Amino acid sequence: MRLLGVAVTLTTQKTIARILKVNHAGEYGAIRIYRAQLWTARWLQPDLVPFLTETLSHEIDHCRRFRESMGAYKTRPCHAMWLWSTRGWVLGLATALMGRNAVMACTAAVEGKVHRHLDEQIAFLMRVNDPLADLIADIRIQEIEHLEFARARLKETTLSRLIEAFVGIATEGVIWLSTQGAVTRMERGLRRL
Ligand SMILES: [Fe+2]
Ligand SMILES: [Fe+2]
Repeated sequence: MRLLGVAVTLTTQKTIARILKVNHAGEYGAIRIYRAQLWTARWLQPDLVPFLTETLSHEIDHCRRFRESMGAYKTRPCHAMWLWSTRGWVLGLATALMGRNAVMACTAAVEGKVHRHLDEQIAFLMRVNDPLADLIADIRIQEIEHLEFARARLKETTLSRLIEAFVGIATEGVIWLSTQGAVTRMERGLRRL
């Protein structure tokens, strides 16, 4: 089979479609987190408003770019977008109400996970010579900026460590639930390659 002019196997095509689906859903989850934090920060952490506004605009753009790529890969958004929407909003709101350091812990945890996943995806897509690697590599530049901003401001406390651990488990849980484990199995496979 040929996709975007590149010969791919059916398994590879399925893997690429899953990468797109989970990335698009993840960006949507990030939009919901940053929207909730921005909504609260206007009153509680006004100095974070410029960072949150810019980061939200990046996530909206990433989500749009992944959505626009779906047609070429013959895939559609994940069926459980509501899960990403509600969990993202609750996580964003809860951390914003806990204060500035909790917002930074949440950002560091989310963006850290994103960064690790994108690295694995790029390595796989480069091996199969798929142009989606370039899009992900471009998006990763801004994800690293988000991660570095949060890491530079995060003060390590028991609460921040708990938030980071919780966000890590919750993110993997939503990925598993929304894809019935397919993406988790796929990522284990990518790491073994
Ligand atoms: Fe993003
Ligand atoms: Fe991000």
